[in-house]
Amino acid sequence: MKTLAILNGPNLDRLGKREPEIYGHATLADLEARLRAEFDGVARLEFFQSNHEGELVDRISVLADAKIDGIVINGAALTHTSVALRDALAGSGLRAVEVHISNIYKREEFRQKSLTAPVCVAVITGLGLEGYFAAVRFLLR
Ligand code: DQA
Repeated sequence: MKTLAILNGPNLDRLGKREPEIYGHATLADLEARLRAEFDGVARLEFFQSNHEGELVDRISVLADAKIDGIVINGAALTHTSVALRDALAGSGLRAVEVHISNIYKREEFRQKSLTAPVCVAVITGLGLEGYFAAVRFLLR
């Protein structure tokens, strides 16, 4: 059975409370429960959220050493700013799919640049939470 990591960056711990008109009403715990239910017996899913860049970098390093089968990452604001996150993904040798709940191309200009997208195999943006499911399905193929 494949092992995938679902990584979420800053402020995604506040899903459900944070700007629900953009990110919806489901919480991060809801997302985790739904993904676990959907892929029960099909994939091992590991979840990690942090508001801290270094913690995400450290986690990617551990996942790289463990040689897991792929990463689904919503780097949130770090997507647009973090060379460290990009380097961690690139250096991990792992296949990663970048997910955004909102469509970053319909939003402010500063969100339309992703530093991490070029080191991911794909980007899914604007499908809401469905993007995480699509990313997992893709990585399981
Ligand atoms: C986000 C989009 C980012 O621009 C933003 O900083 C987030 C969430 C999304 O899922 O739509 O925190 O990654």
